[in-house]
Amino acid sequence: MSRLEVLPFDESHLPDAGRLLAARHRRHRAAEPHLPARFEDPVTCSTEVAAVLGGTDVSGAVALRDGRVVGYLLGAPKPGPDWGRNVWVESAGLAVEEAEDARDLYAAAAARWAEEGRTAHYVLVPAHDEALVSAWFRLAFGHQHTHAVREVPAGPAGTPPHVRVRRAARGDVAALARLDLELPAHQALAPTFSAAPTGTYEEALAEWEDDVDDPDFATFVAEHEGRVVGSAVGCRLERSGSHAGPARPDGAGFLGFAAVLPGARGLGAGRALGEAVLDWSRSEGHACVVTDWRATNLLSSRAWPALGFRPSYLRLHRLLGH
Ligand SMILES: CC(C)(COP(=O)(O)OP(=O)(O)OC[C@H]1O[C@@H](n2cnc3c(N)ncnc32)[C@H](O)[C@@H]1OP(=O)(O)O)[C@@H](O)C(=O)NCCC(=O)NCCS
Repeated sequence: MSRLEVLPFDESHLPDAGRLLAARHRRHRAAEPHLPARFEDPVTCSTEVAAVLGGTDVSGAVALRDGRVVGYLLGAPKPGPDWGRNVWVESAGLAVEEAEDARDLYAAAAARWAEEGRTAHYVLVPAHDEALVSAWFRLAFGHQHTHAVREVPAGPAGTPPHVRVRRAARGDVAALARLDLELPAHQALAPTFSAAPTGTYEEALAEWEDDVDDPDFATFVAEHEGRVVGSAVGCRLERSGSHAGPARPDGAGFLGFAAVLPGARGLGAGRALGEAVLDWSRSEGHACVVTDWRATNLLSSRAWPALGFRPSYLRLHRLLGH
C-alpha cells in the first residue's frame, strides 16, 4: 500500500469528506436502518461537514494516498464546564476508508489539540464498525457512552402485577423532583464517577412545578405498593442536543430520562417505565425510539439493552497525560 500523507483539513477537502462520510453512513445503515437515509448522499454529507468546519475553534486533518483523499477527522471544543478542556469529534467529524488511517489522522489533529491545552478527547464512532472501534482503542480511547435505537413495539406491553405505570400529574411533582436527583447521584458513584453537577431538590421541584404540564414531554410514574418509586420522560428526539446529524434517526421518539428509587430497583419498574415511553412513541406516530447511557452505569447499561435497544454510536473518550 502506498504511503499515507496527512495534511491539515481545509475547505477544499469538503467534497471528498462528503463522499467518505456518505460511504461510511451507507455501511452504517446496512447495520442500523433507522439511521437517517439522507446522509447516504455525498452532497448532503459535504454540507454537514461544512457546518462542522464553520464552528468555533474547529481543526483537523485529512489523509491522502496517491493524491486521493481517503479519510478525514475534525474536532471542536464543546463549551461549558462538564467535559474538561475538551475536543469533540461528532458524528460527521470522521470518515476513513481504512480503519487504521484513523490513528494517523488523530496523531496529526491531536498534536494541535494538546498544544492548545485541550486534554479531554471525545469521539463518536459507528457502533457496528469493529475495526474502527479497535483502531481508537489502540489510541488509548475507552468506551464511555452508548447511543442506541429500537423500533416502536407493535402494541402496549403488559406491566407486571405489582407495578402500576400512569401519566404523571401535578400531585407527583415532589416525587418527580426527588427522582431527578437519583440519576446524577447514581452516576457520581463507582464505577461511573461522573462529576456532573447534581443540583438541589428545590431546583428540581421548581422546574417540575413549571414543566409538569408541558405538552412536549410525556412524563410517566411507576407505583409500587401505592407509592411512586420511579419516573420516565419521553419526547421527540429533536429535543435532545446530543443526537444530531447522521446520529439522529428521522421521526424518532426519545427516552430522555428514567430513574427508580434505589430500594425499588430490580422489581421491573424500570422496564415498565421504558415500555410506557416506547408505547407513547408508537401512539405519537414515531417509527423508532432512541436512548443513550453511560457504558459504566451498571444499571442502565443492562436495563436498556434488555428492552431491545441496539447500540448505534459509541462515544469513546481519552484523557491525555497519564
Ligand atoms: C436504570 C433503571 C431506571 C432501571 O430500573 P429498574 O427498575 O432497576 O429495572 P428493572 O427491574 O425493570 O430491570 C430492567 C431490565 O434490566 C435487567 N437487569 C437489571 N439488573 C441487571 C443485572 N445486574 N444484570 C443483567 N440484567 C439486569 C433486568 O433483568 C430487566 O430486564 P428483563 O425484564 O428482561 O429481565 C434503574 O436501575 C435506575 O434508576 N438506575 C439509576 C438511574 C439511571 O441509571 N437511570 C437511567 C439513565 S440512562
